[in-house]
Amino acid sequence: MPSDLLSIADLDDASLLHLVEVAGRYRAGLADRPLAGLSVALLFEKPSLRTKVSFDIGVHQLGGHAVYLGKDEVGLNTREPARDVAHVLERWCCAIVARVFDHSTLRDLADAASVPVVNALSDLEHPCQALADLATVQQRFGRLEGVTVAFVGDGNNVARSLAMACAGVGAAFRIASPPAFALERAWVDAVNARYGVKGPRVEEFDDPAQAVAGADVVYTDVWTSMGQEAESAERRKAFAGFQVDDRLLDRAAPGVVLLHDMPAHYGEEVPLGMLDSPRSAAFDQAENRLHAQKAVLRLLVVVE
Ligand code: CP
Repeated sequence: MPSDLLSIADLDDASLLHLVEVAGRYRAGLADRPLAGLSVALLFEKPSLRTKVSFDIGVHQLGGHAVYLGKDEVGLNTREPARDVAHVLERWCCAIVARVFDHSTLRDLADAASVPVVNALSDLEHPCQALADLATVQQRFGRLEGVTVAFVGDGNNVARSLAMACAGVGAAFRIASPPAFALERAWVDAVNARYGVKGPRVEEFDDPAQAVAGADVVYTDVWTSMGQEAESAERRKAFAGFQVDDRLLDRAAPGVVLLHDMPAHYGEEVPLGMLDSPRSAAFDQAENRLHAQKAVLRLLVVVE
């Protein structure tokens, strides 16, 4: 059992499958209260809808109490160092959920804290999103192994965690990106190492049509993530031709499911209305953040 969830790689294959299974049980109505009498700190340097609300409600449903701390309240590494923040919060809280700009801040929190630290998004990874993504694929297909996931867009934090999660559960992972925005070679190598010698390999494309051909799941994300706003004009130019629309989805497998972690930048990675398409599971995916994160807190905080 990991002591923190900073990276999806902190979870071995069995833990990934366990969390997907427990997320399904929460979705089906499991109503245990393993956090009764406990408090969880939600420490956010960046805005959030899904992550903030789903953790807050999730902690409440598990019987606990969530304390939200926004970027102007704590001043991580400005008002006081991350290690001091961790040492103070651990005196009151059974876990620290943190959304940070720089992944090293999460490491500093985790190195110092005696309680679990959960990555609620960093520049490097978004593991809670990837767990909700797996839960959604399991919900839609009834299996994970052998499902083909095609990610169209930036080789960003969401893509990194999703690729590693797919390797852990035996789902094939493809990615189409403009060359300057591809997944880093070291990350692809690490994902391939996780697949092992018998598994598939990450397939990389610069043509979205090739990447989605016959895929069961097509996944996209914004071209400009939080904190990259100064690059948005350059990115819009680089990602021209990478929009996921109905014509692109027609190249995928019959019954293809469209995933998007949201928020969407309509008119960029998807046209307006695309997430309301019958082929979209984006709102199930958002709901599954709640179920997956409850499973994470149960695993990390409560000895099962
Ligand atoms: N997908 C996701 O993390 O959404 P928020 O930024 O709204 O939390």
